[in-house]
Amino acid sequence: MASKTSKVEPLIRKCVIPAAGLGTRFLPATKAVPKEMLPIVDTPTLQYIVEEAVSAGIEDVVLINGRGKGAIEDHFDIGFELETTLRARGKDSEADKLRAIADLVRVVSIRQKEPKGLGHAVLCAKSVIGDEPFGVLLGDDMIDAEEPGIRQLARVYRQYNQAVIALMEVPESETHMYGIAAGTDLGDGVMRIDRIVEKPKKGTAPSNLAVIGRYVLPPDIFPILENQTPGVGGEIQLTDGLATLQQSKGLLGYRFKGQRYDAGDKVGYLKANIAYALKRPDLRAGLLEYMREVVKTEKP
Ligand code: UTP
Repeated sequence: MASKTSKVEPLIRKCVIPAAGLGTRFLPATKAVPKEMLPIVDTPTLQYIVEEAVSAGIEDVVLINGRGKGAIEDHFDIGFELETTLRARGKDSEADKLRAIADLVRVVSIRQKEPKGLGHAVLCAKSVIGDEPFGVLLGDDMIDAEEPGIRQLARVYRQYNQAVIALMEVPESETHMYGIAAGTDLGDGVMRIDRIVEKPKKGTAPSNLAVIGRYVLPPDIFPILENQTPGVGGEIQLTDGLATLQQSKGLLGYRFKGQRYDAGDKVGYLKANIAYALKRPDLRAGLLEYMREVVKTEKP
């Protein structure tokens, strides 16, 4: 967990974490619990994302909540009764761990009354972000990297003074599931984007570079989103807003370094659980033993 003493110089001060989607792919688990609160091993996905923001030097996190927002707010607040009970039972280290979550960072919570799309969720943060560049970290997209994913993008933003989004190569057969970007290579993983489309129909994708859930954007995105009509799925799509931003102010893509897990997808979620469990000395041996057994006995 990021500690308060390991503070790094901020390249951007604020970020938005949208976590107000319906999470339909994880029903019934997400009937009462937001998918961003489902655990990877024993820690909610959202906590990993907030920790990434903190270790990138971000000082203010704007969480966009929908249904079940109480669970999210409680998680990042002081759990006074639970802490007191743990301390009374001599479990001070557990109580300290809970307090550390509440002490992580300043969190502002905003309600997106209806899940009108990712672009609309980002727009909900306008008044708190104000007139400065900011990060967006999707609440179900995890990046395991030496340098936090959002900080990699913030560096590119500061170098070029231009909006930048995370890109990752995906197989041709999966391009219809993502926003897809194409453009000119500028070296060092940076690309000047000249085309970006949300979920292109099979066979029409302009490249195999998919937009992944990390962005550093200027405040110019807000008036664009305010005036935007609904796109794919009847939602206000962030990708459509980015296409307009690309035309007016320019847009960069960055092939981030690190391993990405889509915790909003069932297989991605299971992979994240296995990968993070294998990093844990208390779980690794037991899990490996079970996995070897499964490989031996399961038929393909
Ligand atoms: P997703 O499209 O993965 O989320 O949005 P979803 O709609 O909840 O997923 P399914 O397909 O129904 O399972 C990416 C991120 O944007 C947030 C989601 O919570 C997720 O973190 N989001 C999406 C919002 O905050 N508001 C929205 O209106 C839509």
